[in-house]
Amino acid sequence: MNRIFLPLALVWLIIGATVIAFSQRPWLPRMDVVQPIPFSHRVHAGLNKIPCQYCHEYARRSENAGVPPIERCVGCHGSGILGGIKPVTRPWTDHTQPSFEIRWNRVYVLPDFVKFTHRPHINAGIACQHCHGDVQNMDRVVPVKEINMGFCVDCHTKRHASLDCVSCHH
Ligand code: HEC
Ligand code: HEC
Ligand code: HEC
Ligand code: HEC
Ligand code: HEC
Repeated sequence: MNRIFLPLALVWLIIGATVIAFSQRPWLPRMDVVQPIPFSHRVHAGLNKIPCQYCHEYARRSENAGVPPIERCVGCHGSGILGGIKPVTRPWTDHTQPSFEIRWNRVYVLPDFVKFTHRPHINAGIACQHCHGDVQNMDRVVPVKEINMGFCVDCHTKRHASLDCVSCHH
């Protein structure tokens, strides 16, 4: 009995380990995110040179960079000056329709056991692009760097920032 069972168990272990090693961990940045509106960073941050923090205004102040509220879009698009995108703006200015929020889908996610805040990084003068790549050239945000512990710790070592486990982990 054992002569069959043990090799079989071993095979399953190897298959299991391989599957885990090659499967995408759930918190890895996603390559396949589709947004409800084809919002383009290339058009906004690239061609029209709108500063990142005009829309991601909380990046330097709080934990989350946050995505902009709809009012921020309406500031430019609701005025009718940029008439070319009426289909996008109509629901916001048409008062017969209930207001709605755009539910953007997240690209970057860290696991719950990691603490990350944008503020100290922005204050230390690290460019958004260092971690997010050249977003201003992207129509759709796709991750360029794999943001894992090695990525964080490498730079913390170079910049003499904290290497304490508890500064990044709860
Ligand atoms: C040191 C690396 C680093 C830098 C620099 C950085 N980010 Fe991030 N950013 C991250 C990580 C890591 C996440 C995922 C955070 C999470 O899951 O809690 C993230 C998430 C985000 C998100 C998703 C929403 C949110 O608040 O979590 C946005 C938007 C964002 N970053 C924009 C920016 C902008 C704009 C800048 C520059 C002003 C910037 N980031 C600079 C690493 C960085
Ligand atoms: C500071 C002004 C400004 C803000 C804020 C802004 N936009 Fe735009 N948007 C523009 C300009 C300028 C264009 C280019 C218009 C053109 O080329 O005709 C544009 C183009 C677009 C387009 C058409 C893209 C294409 O491929 O041509 C969409 C869709 C869009 N914006 C959605 C949004 C959404 C959603 C928001 C809020 C998250 C937003 N915009 C915020 C200025 C702005
Ligand atoms: C006109 C407003 C606007 C500007 C300017 C802008 N963003 Fe964004 N950003 C958004 C919106 C809306 C989303 C959510 C939709 C998406 O992911 O494309 C977003 C999403 C992101 C995300 C993905 C967040 C996640 O994890 O889902 C990153 C990273 C990001 N922006 C970085 C930047 C950087 C870097 C710049 C400057 C080069 C910038 N943004 C300029 C509006 C803007
Ligand atoms: C490109 C360099 C760089 C990268 C990449 C980076 N950091 Fe940092 N980090 C810094 C610097 C610089 C500081 C500020 C140190 C200071 O203010 O003394 C900092 C500060 C922090 C702090 C605050 C520490 C404290 O004691 O107040 C935390 C938490 C943190 N980083 C977590 C992370 C995590 C998690 C990642 C990866 C997702 C990451 N960092 C990636 C450079 C980096
Ligand atoms: C500068 C930030 C930072 C520091 C310091 C740090 N970690 Fe992490 N750690 C992360 C990030 C981000 C992840 C999640 C991404 C990943 O899986 O690599 C992580 C993941 C982990 C994981 C899960 C790994 C996996 O792949 O499932 C363990 C275990 C861990 N850290 C232990 C530690 C210990 C122990 C220390 C102290 C010696 C430490 N970390 C210090 C940022 C940090």
